[in-house]
Amino acid sequence: MKSETKGILEGARLGVFGKGGSGKSTAVVLLARALRNRRYDVCVLDADSTNVGLQHALGITEPPVSLLDFYGGMVFSGGIVTCPVDDPIPLANAEMSLEELPSDYYGESPQGILLLVAGKIGRMGPGAGCDGPIAKIARDFQLETSHGKGLMIVDFKAGFEDSARGVFTNLDWMIHIVDPTRASVGMAIDMNEMVKQVKAGVPPATEHLEDPRLVDLATRFFKYARVKGIFFVLNRVDSSETEDLLRESLGEQGIEPIGVIRDDPSIRRSWLEGRPLAAPVAQTDVDLLVETLEVALSSGMKSSVGAAVV
Ligand SMILES: Nc1ncnc2c1ncn2[C@@H]1O[C@H](COP(=O)(O)OP(=O)(O)OP(=O)(O)O)[C@@H](O)[C@H]1O
Ligand SMILES: [Mg+2]
Repeated sequence: MKSETKGILEGARLGVFGKGGSGKSTAVVLLARALRNRRYDVCVLDADSTNVGLQHALGITEPPVSLLDFYGGMVFSGGIVTCPVDDPIPLANAEMSLEELPSDYYGESPQGILLLVAGKIGRMGPGAGCDGPIAKIARDFQLETSHGKGLMIVDFKAGFEDSARGVFTNLDWMIHIVDPTRASVGMAIDMNEMVKQVKAGVPPATEHLEDPRLVDLATRFFKYARVKGIFFVLNRVDSSETEDLLRESLGEQGIEPIGVIRDDPSIRRSWLEGRPLAAPVAQTDVDLLVETLEVALSSGMKSSVGAAVV
C-alpha cells in the first residue's frame, strides 16, 4: 500500500447498504477501485455474514482468515465477541494498525486495496448462533495504516438487520444502493426514514436490557451516532426510462440520488466466473460518482442533492 495525496474522505468509514442483490458488493468493489485511483489507502471490510467470494472480484486469490477468529470467536461458542444488541460495549482492541495484524487476516489486491473479512456464519457448523457478533466487528473495527487511518468501505449484508443493530453509529456516511425494483425503492425510503429518526434522537430498543448502564450506553451510541448522512445510488440502470422512474419514485420522498451505475453485462459474467470484476461501463460511472461525492462533501453538502439527512 502506498499513499501520496489524501482527499476529503481520508480516514472515513463508509457503509454500503441495500436490498438483497441490489449490487452492494459490486458497488463496494467499484468504489474501492475508484477511491484507490484517487490515492486513498482503501480497506474493504466484508461484513456480509453469509456471502463469500468478494476476494475474487477484487483480484485476491485467497480469502483472509476472519477477524472473528482474530478476536477469539463469538460469545455463543465460548469466544469474546458479543452481539451489539445484547451488549453495546465497544469491541476491545477494535482500532488496529496493519503492523499489529498478522498477514493471514488481510489480503491485498493488485491495485493495493486491502480486504478484511468480519466473519462467515456458514463455516461455523450447525447451531452457530446469530450473526450479531459479526455486526459488532463491522460496527467497531478500524484499521490504521502507516499513513494514518485508512478509508474503510464496509460491505454489509442485505436488509435492515445490521442497521437495526446500530452499525451506522460508527460510520461517517452510508451509501444505499437502489436497483430497479419497487422493493428496493421501498427499502431506500425506509432506510432514509430510519437515519432521519436517529438524527432526531429517537432512542433504540432497550427493553431487553436489564443493566441500566447498558441501556445508557446503547442510548448514547444512537444519540451520538457518527453518521453524517446517507447517499442514494441507482444501480443496474438499463435505460433513461428506468432512471426517470426511479428518480420520480424516490423524488416523491425527497430523495435525490447522487449517482447512477448503468447495467453492465460484464459484471454478471465476472461474478459468475469468480474473476476480478470487469466493468468497463459501470466503473466509469462509479469514478464519476466518487468525484461528485468528493465535490459535494468538500462544499459541505449535507442536506441537499443526494444526502437526505442532518
Ligand atoms: N451494474 C450492474 N450491471 C449488471 N449486473 C449487475 C450490476 N450490479 C450488480 N449486478 C449483478 O447483480 C447481481 C447482484 O450483485 P451483487 O452481488 O453486487 O449484489 P449484492 O447487493 O451485494 O447482493 P447480496 O445482497 O447477495 O450481497 C450479481 O449477479 C451482479 O452480477
Ligand atoms: Mg453482496
